[in-house]
Amino acid sequence: MGWLAESLNSSIGKKFIMAVTGLSLISFLLIHLIGNFTLYGGPEAFNGYVETLEIVKPVIRVIELVLALIFILHIFNGIKLWYENKKARPDTYAVDSKKENTTFSSRTMIISGSIVFIFLVLHLATFWVAFNFSGDTHEKAMVYYSVVLEWFQEGWYAGFYVIAVLLLGFHLNHGFQSAFQTFGWNHKKYFPFIKKLGTIYAILMAVGFASIPIYFFINGGN
Ligand code: HEM
Repeated sequence: MGWLAESLNSSIGKKFIMAVTGLSLISFLLIHLIGNFTLYGGPEAFNGYVETLEIVKPVIRVIELVLALIFILHIFNGIKLWYENKKARPDTYAVDSKKENTTFSSRTMIISGSIVFIFLVLHLATFWVAFNFSGDTHEKAMVYYSVVLEWFQEGWYAGFYVIAVLLLGFHLNHGFQSAFQTFGWNHKKYFPFIKKLGTIYAILMAVGFASIPIYFFINGGN
């Protein structure tokens, strides 16, 4: 097993872990956004959706555990890669040529990733905790929608969501194409298409997730 640990710890091994975990998170986000869109159907639609998930709670728990491991691997490896790159190429080195060869999204991965991480901690400490650890089951069934509604009435909370998911958009824009590049799918003919697809996906996620706090803040859910 020593060889496995060694190759996963190499630079390309870490990039491979980033790509696999990143693409898994990309799939999770798509499913999460589709589920969250039931909020636009009103309390019955959203509470009904969460209640349906409650029926398969053991399965959800396993998914949550796998998701937590994926997030930890992604964050841990991302920080390690960033640190190693920084050590290899200090900031003093040709800032201008760096700008020419890279995009805004790629240069700011550590910043967008860190803010999305802070967002995730706040998000889980509010929604996930409220959904999983408050009141008895019957009482909870009535309040899922109101938990979301109440939090998004808070200007700072809704505002931070919007900023965080816009940065998430930049993170996804680079992450998507970068994962395909790591897998070697960067053929001259197809790569422009992958890049475009990544940008469309990133815009859809940023606009889709941002629309929810904006809608609830402005309309109060009515
Ligand atoms: C407007 C935006 C969002 C809303 C309204 C929202 C809503 C929710 C809700 C209600 C839960 C609790 C589900 C439950 O435990 O039954 C949840 C969980 C979670 N959310 Fe979000 N979410 C949003 C954006 C995001 C984003 C952008 C990310 C990732 C960067 C994210 C990651 C997660 C994770 C990892 C969980 C825990 C896993 C789970 O229980 O499904 N969410 N979200």
